[in-house]
Amino acid sequence: MKQKASEEWMEEFRAIENRLGPQARITVLLVLLSGLYMLYSYNLWDRFTQSQYWWMHLMVGVWLLFAALLFVFEPLVICCVLEKRARAASPAVLIRMLWMHRAILASSLAVIFAAVGGSHGLF
Ligand code: HEM
Repeated sequence: MKQKASEEWMEEFRAIENRLGPQARITVLLVLLSGLYMLYSYNLWDRFTQSQYWWMHLMVGVWLLFAALLFVFEPLVICCVLEKRARAASPAVLIRMLWMHRAILASSLAVIFAAVGGSHGLF
């Protein structure tokens, strides 16, 4: 996308976003429901009061980040601000977005590692 004109990558970004956005929102809700189900059925609530289960807090923290991005930031800010800015300063906006996505991906991978490790006695 870095090689393309702002109008062109914005259009492609929108096409991807329009399909991916609803899938991501549904998935984030399923993560919440399955997490709450596990907390309830295995009665794991007291883990949140013990610091040795730090990876539980990390999971909820990253979930809150995803929820804020997908349900608040994306619909309210990205859609409108991005469109205005992209016309004026496309490379800067695109590079910032790439870094934002890399940061989100890195934090997801870190949480997956921490949660699998924590659930299976690594820590
Ligand atoms: C409100 C949000 C969340 C809640 C309430 C929640 C809750 C839980 C609970 C209760 C477990 C089982 C712990 C155990 O077996 O010891 C678990 C495991 C796990 N969670 Fe979450 N979680 C949430 C968000 C997330 C997110 C955002 C991710 C990934 C990005 C994630 C990835 C995992 C993984 C990989 C496991 C380990 C499964 C295994 O190997 O047994 N969770 N979660």
